[in-house]
Amino acid sequence: MTGQGKIVAGALAPHPPHLVYAENPPQNEAKAECGWEELRWGYERLRNSLAEREFDVLIVHSPHWKTVIGHHLLGVPSFEGLSVDPVFPNLFRFHYDLKVDVELSEAIHDEGRAEGLTMNMMKNPDFRVDYGTITSCHLTHPQWDVPIVSISANQGFFYYSNDVGQEQMLALGRATKKAVEATGRKAVLLASCSLSHRHFTEEPVIPEDMSQEYVQHHGQYLWDMRVLDLIRRGQTRQLWDELPDFIEQAISECKDGSLSWLLSALDFPDYPGQVHAYGTVIGTGNAVVEWNPAQRLKEKQA
Ligand SMILES: [Fe+2]
Repeated sequence: MTGQGKIVAGALAPHPPHLVYAENPPQNEAKAECGWEELRWGYERLRNSLAEREFDVLIVHSPHWKTVIGHHLLGVPSFEGLSVDPVFPNLFRFHYDLKVDVELSEAIHDEGRAEGLTMNMMKNPDFRVDYGTITSCHLTHPQWDVPIVSISANQGFFYYSNDVGQEQMLALGRATKKAVEATGRKAVLLASCSLSHRHFTEEPVIPEDMSQEYVQHHGQYLWDMRVLDLIRRGQTRQLWDELPDFIEQAISECKDGSLSWLLSALDFPDYPGQVHAYGTVIGTGNAVVEWNPAQRLKEKQA
């Protein structure tokens, strides 16, 4: 299978384990009464929208697989195990069983190297897949019937600077796009991160008690609205320029590079991103956003 592959959708797909907990899938040991409906129904809208398109792989960039030496990709055909959230083991104890598109992972690895990036394949069959990867993939496509590619979050933003991190993500996004096209895949890309990330320090007695869930900081909320406004207007190059400030001032989880990677892979959408939902989880700002690259083509043809 070579050539003519394409990215059929990109999504900002945040990974609070609370959302999986509240969905009560059979894989998760903890059971909830309800909770975080706005975001969960936003994911449902994303799923309904994706159901109208064919895709054969999910590619996720996850802030919770942190690597220092380069960018890593899962490199074993399947992984199975129990994923436990280190902060919320009471909410997320998820039995996963997933398949990996190793050929595409290797193609991204090679394209990344050609871009001058340090790339590595994770070949340990006992590796425990991070909960960011699992949560974003589950909420986007709970059937688990397509393989995934998971890319680690290189810590260049933290060890060097936001500008160094952005340059790396620019190259990694280009490499991802080229690999998808060259291997003939129809790919859905997931940036597994929240927006603003100032969170509560005490958990309510009942985690899904929504009377305890609210925006914690107005300044952070204003930043989230600024980011979503730029996305809705299709002004993603301006968003790119503002991301380093957003990351610092909103303590954003975008510091792990997932959104930057997605914007680059989508070649900086100049068409509106569709915001399916915005809501808080333990006070952090989360949005479910979808980009449909076919829209750019439509607008060009019109
Ligand atoms: Fe996180």
